[in-house]
Amino acid sequence: MTTKFNFENFYSEKSEEQEISGPAHAKYDFAVAYPAPETIPSEGLLEGLKKGLEREGRDLAYYPHSFGSRELREFIKEKLKNDRGIETTIEEILVTHGSGEANNLVIQNLTDPGDTVITEEFVYLGTLNQLQKAKADIVGTKLDDKGIIPEELDKLINKLKSEGKNIKYLYSIPEFQNPTGSTMPSQRRKEVLQILSKHGLPLLEDDCYVDLRFEGESQDSYKSLDETGSVIHVASFSKLIAPGLRMGYVNAPIEIMKRLNYLKTSGPSQFVSLAIENFLKNEMDSHKEKITALLREKRDAMVSSLGENFGGTGVSWTVPEGGCYLWITFPESVDMAALQQECFDEGVGYLAGDRFSPSGKSGTNSARLCFAYETPEMNREGIGKFAEFMRQKKVI
Ligand SMILES: Cc1ncc(COP(=O)(O)O)c(C=O)c1O
Repeated sequence: MTTKFNFENFYSEKSEEQEISGPAHAKYDFAVAYPAPETIPSEGLLEGLKKGLEREGRDLAYYPHSFGSRELREFIKEKLKNDRGIETTIEEILVTHGSGEANNLVIQNLTDPGDTVITEEFVYLGTLNQLQKAKADIVGTKLDDKGIIPEELDKLINKLKSEGKNIKYLYSIPEFQNPTGSTMPSQRRKEVLQILSKHGLPLLEDDCYVDLRFEGESQDSYKSLDETGSVIHVASFSKLIAPGLRMGYVNAPIEIMKRLNYLKTSGPSQFVSLAIENFLKNEMDSHKEKITALLREKRDAMVSSLGENFGGTGVSWTVPEGGCYLWITFPESVDMAALQQECFDEGVGYLAGDRFSPSGKSGTNSARLCFAYETPEMNREGIGKFAEFMRQKKVI
């Protein structure tokens, strides 16, 4: 009989186990971070791909440039200028495997174990996880419904400095923040940049949701307000088109790009780049209009059902002007983490607020609800079911 090989003595110091699990879906799935499945533009992508392959299919014979295709980077350069007021060059644009890879490359380049990284008080789980793996000391700065409160950030930096902490950077999702749905007004962004400049700190701006605005005015990107080159800007095609494409990008000063290039192991798929570039060149505006109109309808359905079912019960929620999520807050004594599994078993999925907290200690009485994935009807119905569950639990 052959003995099974044992790897136990061969793992590197940084190797650790992580459970392998697939997503579990509730009937009313407000826990996910997905866009609306009915908006995936399969035909447009196919047409774009066809056009791209006709033009340069033979180039698939080459391994792609580590920064991504020139044409896609030209497109991104124009998009950054038109949509975000960012003037840049294609040498300062690196196409990545989703913005998740972009964030991780930056984190790997800027973070040593024990370094302090400031994030919003509640932060996107993927980045939280990457920062934890980099062994950062992650500290959340206070938020209100307009995002980071500049004075609180200044106070926090002073406090951390007085404790001798080595603060490396601020990571911020200023537009339709994940998980709270808040958007920072341009004025606050300016103030945050002034505070960071005073303390000599850089900023990692995650602009993942910016294409999903369905009402209100777009706010200036941090990067467009920055005159000193201290902002690294990350964005994605996951929310504008589909996460399954796995494509995002990072825009930063050239010296940073060389560092990112060192850690990047291979160029992004040229095949997917062709589909994205040629689809968006033709249909970006009409596609954006379509998805944002639907997202608005879905948000409205969820918000009106929240009003009908939770109005006057001491529960509050954010009403985002775009993006995919809203943030619901119950009275302080309510433990949303403890109720999560039972509520899921009753058919309603949500993610409890403490999951997004760097300390894991705040946000227990809050939850993130994704309004983007289910249909408007399911949003309405599911919130009714959620309220029924909360009534049974005597929370409302
Ligand atoms: C704020 C934020 N940043 C980055 C990502 C990663 O997205 P992707 O890697 O698909 O571009 C997400 C995904 O939900 C997100 O919410």
